[in-house]
Amino acid sequence: MRFLLTILCFVGPLLALPVRSESTSSITRDTVILPPGEGRVLVTSQCGYCHSLALVTQNRADREGWRSLIRWMQEKHGLWELGTLETPILDYLEKHYSPKESGRRPPIAGHLLPKLDIP
Ligand code: HEC
Repeated sequence: MRFLLTILCFVGPLLALPVRSESTSSITRDTVILPPGEGRVLVTSQCGYCHSLALVTQNRADREGWRSLIRWMQEKHGLWELGTLETPILDYLEKHYSPKESGRRPPIAGHLLPKLDIP
């Protein structure tokens, strides 16, 4: 009897611990948030369906490039016909994910740099 009581003292409190729910921890959420603008909802819903939106945001292409990427996914990967949604989707992709020149500022001209007397 004493033995049983001792066991209960240790095990009892454990039973009161909340059961950890696995369902919330196993869901992987897409943390990519597209910049606001017309077409964002369309791109989020249509282009985030099969893969992360990171695939979209990591890429840059002009309008034709995005169009041919869409065709490629339609031919090879089961992307559905976008119909009237295609134009606003292309507008958004072209506006936000066109090729960029360079994110860096141009180098400072030599005559503007301080003169350093380094032997
Ligand atoms: C029906 C599923 C599906 C939908 C919806 C979808 N894609 Fe894809 N997409 C794919 C698959 C499959 C790949 C290839 C993934 C890989 O290579 O791992 C892919 C790859 C890509 C890539 C990477 C291409 C590369 O060169 O690696 C980009 C960019 C992309 N998709 C953009 C989009 C855009 C924009 C949309 C919305 C118009 C979209 N996807 C909707 C299935 C889809």
